[in-house]
Amino acid sequence: MPDRRGRLITIEGLDGSGKTTLVSGLESALAERGLPVLRLREPGGVEVSERIRALVADPSLTVHPHTEALLFAAARAQLCAEVLLPALDDGRWVLLDRFVDSSLAYQGGGRGLGLEAVARINELATQGCRPDRTLLLRVSRSTGRRRLDDRGGERDRMELEQDAFFSRVESAYDALATGEPERFRTLDAHKDASAVLVDALDALADILQDRVTS
Ligand code: TYD
Repeated sequence: MPDRRGRLITIEGLDGSGKTTLVSGLESALAERGLPVLRLREPGGVEVSERIRALVADPSLTVHPHTEALLFAAARAQLCAEVLLPALDDGRWVLLDRFVDSSLAYQGGGRGLGLEAVARINELATQGCRPDRTLLLRVSRSTGRRRLDDRGGERDRMELEQDAFFSRVESAYDALATGEPERFRTLDAHKDASAVLVDALDALADILQDRVTS
C-alpha cells in the first residue's frame, strides 16, 4: 500500500444498486466515529470531470468504446490529481462512488475492451492509487431497473444500454470480486437501506479497527 495516511473506500455496482444511499449512510456513520470523511463521485467531483460526465451521459452522442474508456479515465485523472490524492495524503477517509472497477466492468466487460487494456490506461489516471476496500453492491438487473424507474427522470446514455450489456458488466464485477477477495466485499443490495449499511460497516470493520489501534 502506498505511503499515505488516509483511506480510500470505493462503492461499486450496477445502476440502481443503491450506491448513493449507501454512501450517504456511510458518510454519517464514519463522521460519527470522528473520521475526517470526504465524499466524491465518478465521473465528476471536480469541474473538468463534471463536464466530462455531461459528455459521456449525453444520449444524443455516439461514442466509440475507446473514446468512452479514455473519457472516464480522463475524468478520473483530474479527480485524482486535483482532490483524491491530496485528500488521502492529508489523512482523509474518502468515500468514492465508483472508481477504476467501474471502467473495468463497464468498458472492459460491458463494451468488450478487456480488463487489461482498460487497467493499463487507468494506471496513468490514478497514478497507481488503489482502494483499501471496495464494496460491491450486488442487485438483480430487474431490481436495479425497477429502482431506476422509481427514481424517474431521463435515462442517460449508459442507462439506455440493453440487458446483455449489463449482464457482461455484472459478470465482470463478479470476476473482479472473486479475483481480489482481500479488497472486495460483496453486499446483498436487495436488502433495505439500513440493513445494507449495517453489512457495509461490518465489511469495513477491520480497516476501522486498524485505525483505532494504529
Ligand atoms: P453513476 O454516477 O453511477 O450514475 P447515476 O447518474 O445514476 O448516479 O454513473 C454514471 C454512469 O457511468 C453509469 O451508468 C456507469 C457509467 N460508468 C462507466 O461506464 N465507466 C466508469 O468508469 C464510470 C465511473 C461510470
